[in-house]
Amino acid sequence: MLLEIIKLVITFINNLSNFLSKKHEKIEELYSVKDFENLFSKSCPKDVVAYYNCGADEERTTLENRNAFHRYILRPRMFVDVSNINLSTTIFGQKIATPIGICPMAMHTMAHRDGERATAKAIEKIGGIYIQSFHSSTSIEDLAWEVPHLRKWMQITLCKGTISIDMIKRAEKCGYEAIVVSVDTMSLGNRLELKRLKFDVPQTTRLANFDLYIQGKSEEESKHLTNYSTDLLRRDCTWNYVQYLKGQTSLPLILKGIQTKEDALLAMEYGADAIYVSNHGGRQLDSGKATIDILPEIVEAVKGRCSVFLDGGIMHGSDIFKAIALGADMVFVGRPILWGLGVAGEAGVDRVLSILKEELITTMTFCGTPDVNLITGNHCVKCPPVG
Ligand SMILES: Cc1cc2nc3c(=O)[nH]c(=O)nc-3n(C[C@H](O)[C@H](O)[C@H](O)COP(=O)(O)O)c2cc1C
Repeated sequence: MLLEIIKLVITFINNLSNFLSKKHEKIEELYSVKDFENLFSKSCPKDVVAYYNCGADEERTTLENRNAFHRYILRPRMFVDVSNINLSTTIFGQKIATPIGICPMAMHTMAHRDGERATAKAIEKIGGIYIQSFHSSTSIEDLAWEVPHLRKWMQITLCKGTISIDMIKRAEKCGYEAIVVSVDTMSLGNRLELKRLKFDVPQTTRLANFDLYIQGKSEEESKHLTNYSTDLLRRDCTWNYVQYLKGQTSLPLILKGIQTKEDALLAMEYGADAIYVSNHGGRQLDSGKATIDILPEIVEAVKGRCSVFLDGGIMHGSDIFKAIALGADMVFVGRPILWGLGVAGEAGVDRVLSILKEELITTMTFCGTPDVNLITGNHCVKCPPVG
């Protein structure tokens, strides 16, 4: 009997180590972000894939964000000493090891039980910035406690009542270094795929930042707060509200979702410290321009008076290079991170980030730019339209 048990334990250990090494091999055999996208789509539940990948309406903007990068071509330069590559840069007067960050994205535990802890630990390892979503499944406090050396910013959705300001204060207390206000969440985009699937947030996923507010509330009231509905979203904010928000925090204030030069100028006038060019990955309004196409008009309007960030459609390190060449100070990655998380948790996010970072280094090497701060508009041009 004892022998049988020992044999069973040995078989279990062997199987487990085989499984783990296979999983490891599998990640090592994924060579591009696209490989992760394919495996994620094949291996994760259909509604999770739909929730993470979908865009609004016909998803034209989601697709366009990606495709637009192909219209920008690189201008490599020769005979530059590229034996040492520097990725570090300075944002808000602070040194940052890499110009790559993670976008705020809701509910990471839907992709993997380790959720935000895993994504945060992965970006911490490469010294990038993590933006915690207002609708995260790990709370502001827990993330700060569990990944103490993380460089982190807090994303805020503008809600009725005092919740948004409360969350700014909570983030300040927990060592978050900037506040990222999403300016495009007056409503939820028309995500047809989720309607077709009758998508609902799984019972096992909670909006952890709301735990404080539902204590002692009835089930009905709690549902109103945490069902990820549009009930709470503010639609009445005008530019004066930016000034008000600025007065509520000593941290740099970043406006995420700016898409025109007019709004970039207003953002600066009303006190924003940085402009974050984003169309929410095409999940809100469809038929808008790709973010890489918007970037030049924003950079031109801002004229170096504040930092400019970008997200949307990043699939390659060369896309990051192109965004920096067109004037972005930092570039944030969205869905690829969730694909890495869904495929293999923290190890998967590590691999996605290392692919992007290595591709960026390779692009810098061939373009003769040994320092990210030496990448300029001279290294990237838009293809002339065909015909
Ligand atoms: C699943 C998912 C959830 C998101 N949740 C948020 C959010 O809570 N707050 C926010 O400001 N943006 C959110 N976004 C938008 C991202 O911050 C970012 O703008 C977008 O994903 C960038 O495009 P990419 O996914 O093509 O990289 C979300 C995006 C995705 C894909």
